[in-house]
Amino acid sequence: MTANNTQQATVAQLFDQLADSYDCAALRFFPFTADQLARRLAPQPGEKILDVATGTGAVAVAVAQRLQGGRVIGVDFSERMLDRAYANVRRMALHNIDLHPMDATALEFRADYFDALTCSFGLFFLSDMSAALREWRRVLRPGGRILLTSFAASAFQPLVQLYCDQLAAQCGSQLAVADLPWQRLADTDVFRELLADAGFETIEFAEQQLGFHMQATPEWWDVLWNTGFRGPLLGLEAGQLELFRQQHLARVAEEFRDGTCWLDVPVIFASARVST
Ligand SMILES: C[S@@+](CC[C@H](N)C(=O)[O-])C[C@H]1O[C@@H](n2cnc3c(N)ncnc32)[C@H](O)[C@@H]1O
Repeated sequence: MTANNTQQATVAQLFDQLADSYDCAALRFFPFTADQLARRLAPQPGEKILDVATGTGAVAVAVAQRLQGGRVIGVDFSERMLDRAYANVRRMALHNIDLHPMDATALEFRADYFDALTCSFGLFFLSDMSAALREWRRVLRPGGRILLTSFAASAFQPLVQLYCDQLAAQCGSQLAVADLPWQRLADTDVFRELLADAGFETIEFAEQQLGFHMQATPEWWDVLWNTGFRGPLLGLEAGQLELFRQQHLARVAEEFRDGTCWLDVPVIFASARVST
């Protein structure tokens, strides 16, 4: 197995573990973002739209609900996330969504097939983002559009710094906020260059705040435990994990004022087109 394959397998395994609690209330910034992404995409009647790294289907559902005729195809390499997506699609009684297990970097679709492609909080997980974008461009028709999201650099601060501090103190971890996966796209100049190099045009960025006030520290723990933040905690045995949780949340409690704490979730929306 190559280093890339090993890294991908680790990510797929992590999301398999996260799937059952991924749709929890503390992660509502995912469906909030999905709604905004679908609004910005403005699906046109009859379009074929691919949602890459669809997860539990938040974007696929939001786009399909706005789509008259046409189809949304959602793909993800975590089978457990897709199981949740199937359940969500059934619950919403949507009949215009197909879901397939698939690697985002090797799409099993012919060239020029889709009218639009979306990927929310997925690109930064891929080791070769340039190659992935070229692959996504391949399946888009001339004039087709792409809409991607990522977190802005300051997302989840100051709490995410406290999380890294606690990891360093308790586990000797060297993980810095600057090393978190989404920081790879936080600089829109870098993001723009990636899109331009992959052959996209009319590249535009917008930033939107999709945070909310948390009412208690366990909400922050739900954010950590039900997202990729769980990864560094997996090596801890039960007692160490409980100690981490207690000490970290005691420090996080100091950030609460009048019983609430703002969860800062600035989201970058990147849009572009394939030339006609
Ligand atoms: C943070 S979640 C986002 C899910 C969804 N787009 C949303 O906004 O709620 C990232 C998703 O990317 C998927 N993913 C990561 N790398 C992938 C790859 N190489 N191929 C397919 N899916 C991938 C994960 O399995 C996970 O479901």
